[in-house]
Amino acid sequence: IDLALDIIAHREKYSEACKGRKLATLFYEPSTRTRLSFTSAMMELGGNVIGFSDAASSSVSKGETVADTVRVIACFADIIAMRHFKEGAPLVASQYAGIPVINAGDGSHAHPTQTLTDLLTIKRELGRLDDLTIGFCGDLKFGRTVHSLTKAVILIAPEELRLPDYIRHEVCDKYGVPTVEVRTMEEVMPELDILYMTRVQKERFLDEEEFNRVKDSFVLDPSKLRTAKSDMIVLHPLPRVNEITRAVDNDPRAAYFRQVENGKFVRMALIYTLLKWAEGEKLAAVPDLAEGMFIDRSMKCPNSRCISATEDVDPLFVKAGDTCRCAYCEAKIR
Ligand code: NCD
Repeated sequence: IDLALDIIAHREKYSEACKGRKLATLFYEPSTRTRLSFTSAMMELGGNVIGFSDAASSSVSKGETVADTVRVIACFADIIAMRHFKEGAPLVASQYAGIPVINAGDGSHAHPTQTLTDLLTIKRELGRLDDLTIGFCGDLKFGRTVHSLTKAVILIAPEELRLPDYIRHEVCDKYGVPTVEVRTMEEVMPELDILYMTRVQKERFLDEEEFNRVKDSFVLDPSKLRTAKSDMIVLHPLPRVNEITRAVDNDPRAAYFRQVENGKFVRMALIYTLLKWAEGEKLAAVPDLAEGMFIDRSMKCPNSRCISATEDVDPLFVKAGDTCRCAYCEAKIR
């Protein structure tokens, strides 16, 4: 976040920072802003971009595994940004690529660069990142952007789209983040510093009837904003469907298009940092991702959306306290 702020303040200082380097954007799922945000981030750092935006046009359609694809791509590029419909695919990619891999969204699991975007937007709009009440509204079950940004949280969702328990209890309780679940946005609107709207994730529903039942659960319009604080901000990772009416766009509290631009700045900061790490220059502490991880061939992840269900990957798990999870998708292992 600090580096992104420095980039915003001194754009020219970074204009050739990644000259001669290549980013590969491997997008196995539709995307407009995330892929173009990565592309423009690399271009503004003076680097180049290769990749695909449609799995059907890559060798995946011939049955190539993620592991093989990234080993090939690593011969052409210095860093990879991957979006995949299978949960944990970017983690698998990072084990084989030998170059940095950024998760640009994996199934309904996580979307960490959107979280960095959200945090930078909150910092720029509200001047701080603590002591904030955030209301997440809409599809909290499948919306990966919410799973990655759950830190005081009010959860506004219908029964069918409640936040998965593992995030509510293990993330929020672990970090002492108080959570409340409500069914309407009106009842909590005056309390919120941030209202985080989401799209109902149509593509993740197995049952169309269930989607039709919940698809219009929440629609934010100017009348609902009347009771909100004058300095509350409305965020949305976009794309929106009908959950925010166009009339809200003119309200100064609507920060979602400013949020998009912040996405480019955090991705510039991330690409820059990871390429420095790859060169051996530690700009910031490198987290130990392998902490608590182990391979156990007698165990199997129960999640059919996990990359381990379809590709031959090491059965990798992570233990935290009494709980054991799949390292790829974070599903609980019983
Ligand atoms: C989100 C995503 O892909 O998870 N969009 C984004 O990356 N900005 C949200 C969504 O698709 O609803």
